[in-house]
Amino acid sequence: MAAGQDVDGPFVGLVAVVTGASRGIGAGMAGHFARQGIRVGLCARSAPVAPDGADALVAAVDVTDPAAVDGFAGEVAGRFGRIDLWVNNAGVLGPIGPLAEADPSALGAHVAINVLGVVHGTASFARHVRSRPGGGTLVNLSSGAATTPYRGWAVYCASKAAVQMLTEVVGLEEQASDLAAYAVAPGVVDTDMQALIRATPESAFPDVARFHRLSDEDAFVTPEWVAESILVGCVDRATRLRPAPGRGSVAFRVPDPPGRPG
Ligand SMILES: NC(=O)c1ccc[n+]([C@@H]2O[C@H](COP(=O)([O-])OP(=O)(O)OC[C@H]3O[C@@H](n4cnc5c(N)ncnc54)[C@H](OP(=O)(O)O)[C@@H]3O)[C@@H](O)[C@H]2O)c1
Repeated sequence: MAAGQDVDGPFVGLVAVVTGASRGIGAGMAGHFARQGIRVGLCARSAPVAPDGADALVAAVDVTDPAAVDGFAGEVAGRFGRIDLWVNNAGVLGPIGPLAEADPSALGAHVAINVLGVVHGTASFARHVRSRPGGGTLVNLSSGAATTPYRGWAVYCASKAAVQMLTEVVGLEEQASDLAAYAVAPGVVDTDMQALIRATPESAFPDVARFHRLSDEDAFVTPEWVAESILVGCVDRATRLRPAPGRGSVAFRVPDPPGRPG
């Protein structure tokens, strides 16, 4: 059966944008959403391939370019009528290694993608949600690195901590338009990013052995499991997590799949 055809369920007909959908978590998420009958707007610097049978709009968009991100939001809303869910997934890990040895231009490029890229997507979506009734769901991909320090990942840890705080602030700012905001740490997913981690020498990333062990134990979650956890935890109004009183967002880690030994 083609993605989304003859599907029943609470998500049929919703519209989701996923940034960084050309590979890894974003590509897997796009496929899972489409199989639930969700119409998808997908972007990355290299235009993503639409999942089989999906009602999809794909484009090459660099999230560091606010006009390009806003233009893409407009195209998706124009094609599908609205956007219900926006997932800022695009991200990079490097430069890896002690901050004292990092190339300043590489640090700037990282912040432009991981922080400003999320800022631009969040701002575009917040404006869209303000423009029509019915609220919306913002999901920004965070990481355990937002709260656990890893030597060699100073700028990545800092960028993911920034993502968590900007999600919280925007959640507070946009309560009147019923924007539900989430910072989601996906767990460990075996993508190009994980391959890069395992290929890093211990001299640059002292905790690399932990990631080799996770790989040896096949302790990964799939992008599809991440996507399903987002639908249940952030989108479905019957099951989604709600911010604590006075808070603007929910930050959570994707749970382990049922049946996984602890
Ligand atoms: N994998 C994990 O275990 C893990 C754990 C915690 C958090 N995360 C987070 O999850 C997200 C996805 O990670 P992943 O593992 O799937 O990474 P990945 O396999 O390296 O994919 C990253 C995606 O981001 C896109 N991207 C990078 N720079 C971009 C830019 N300037 N503009 C638009 N798109 C851009 C890439 O496409 P192009 O190169 O074509 O632009 C690609 O589609 C990231 O935010 C990451 O920090 C991952």
